[in-house]
Amino acid sequence: MRVGFTYNMRRNSSAAEETEPPDFPSSLAPGLDGMDNFAEWDDEHVVRDLQETLAKYHEVIPIEADLNAFEKLRKYRPDIVFNIAEGFFGPSRESVIPAMLEMLGIPYTGSDPLTLGLCLDKARAKEVLGYHRLPTAKFAVLKSWPLNGQLRHFDYPMFVKPLFEGSSKGIWMDSVVENTSAMKATVEKVWRTYAQPALVEEFMPGREFTVALLGNGASLRVLPIVEIAFEALPAGAKPIYGWEAKWLWDSAEHQLEIYKCPADLDRELQSKIETLCKKAFNYLGCRDLCRIDVRLDANGEPNILELNPLPGLIKDPAVHSCFPKAAYTAGMTFDDLILTILEEACRRQEVRR
Ligand SMILES: Nc1ncnc2c1ncn2[C@@H]1O[C@H](COP(=O)(O)OP(=O)(O)O)[C@@H](O)[C@H]1O
Ligand SMILES: [Mg+2]
Repeated sequence: MRVGFTYNMRRNSSAAEETEPPDFPSSLAPGLDGMDNFAEWDDEHVVRDLQETLAKYHEVIPIEADLNAFEKLRKYRPDIVFNIAEGFFGPSRESVIPAMLEMLGIPYTGSDPLTLGLCLDKARAKEVLGYHRLPTAKFAVLKSWPLNGQLRHFDYPMFVKPLFEGSSKGIWMDSVVENTSAMKATVEKVWRTYAQPALVEEFMPGREFTVALLGNGASLRVLPIVEIAFEALPAGAKPIYGWEAKWLWDSAEHQLEIYKCPADLDRELQSKIETLCKKAFNYLGCRDLCRIDVRLDANGEPNILELNPLPGLIKDPAVHSCFPKAAYTAGMTFDDLILTILEEACRRQEVRR
């Protein structure tokens, strides 16, 4: 097949050697002075590993998800697109390339623009989960101060995060707030840093898991569950998987042993988590793959924190990447994982191969 490959790449060393530099929109998303602007994008080696994997089995047409992407997709018309493009800004950023592909009638891997946008807006996603009575932390969306009683039914500690970021952007140690003045300080920091509403949730104090799901319909399966092992965090750190844990305390050279896979779970809890995640996958309209974050509440019951229908797919086991880690634990290779995603997308869209 002719497989298009759409991505956004964080440039490291070789940018200067490029013959055709990417064409980006004129403004970037607000962030920590640019420091975390590209946190969601993939590194060069991640993009290269994926492209090389696809190229072992198919003709690959790499297309950077910049301002020229539409014309390139239109010109080359791949049989299907393997999409990992994270986009630029706003809650619809991941939907942009899939929307172009819909317009052009080109099949692609993963969820549609609606689901990608819905899951990025964590409050909207929680509204859908709540409608279907799936457990998720009580929440409020804060756009201004004073609060007008929006949190009158909440108890401290609470958790504050940006409404539509990912990759631990805006998740700091001070996201856990114990009183009104700490709450105000973190909420204002979120507004100031990311120019978007703050999502406040009740704090889930229990164990945390991330769950990789692969497939569709009857073939949807849950890969071995990953536990976030908070005991690996430096002494005194709060038990959250935030910016510090993801980007400061963990690196390929000094790995933080923060992922435990398979998680040590009794059968009842495992089956509760699996059933919950499958339901969430289907109610949110996910396709082919999704990684779902789950945390136990004070009663030990699993709650959905958020859904990631466009999860990271980093081949190198030296770099922490939950979805591949779960697949490797299930006995799959990276090639198996990528080909399964592609196969699921082909089957769903009746692409001839
Ligand atoms: N309501 C909550 N209670 C407890 N911890 C939370 C809550 N919301 C988020 N967290 C912690 O913050 C981390 C990041 O939050 P998440 O919503 O998954 O953001 P991201 O999109 O950056 O992954 C979670 O993995 C978890 O450790
Ligand atoms: Mg998360």
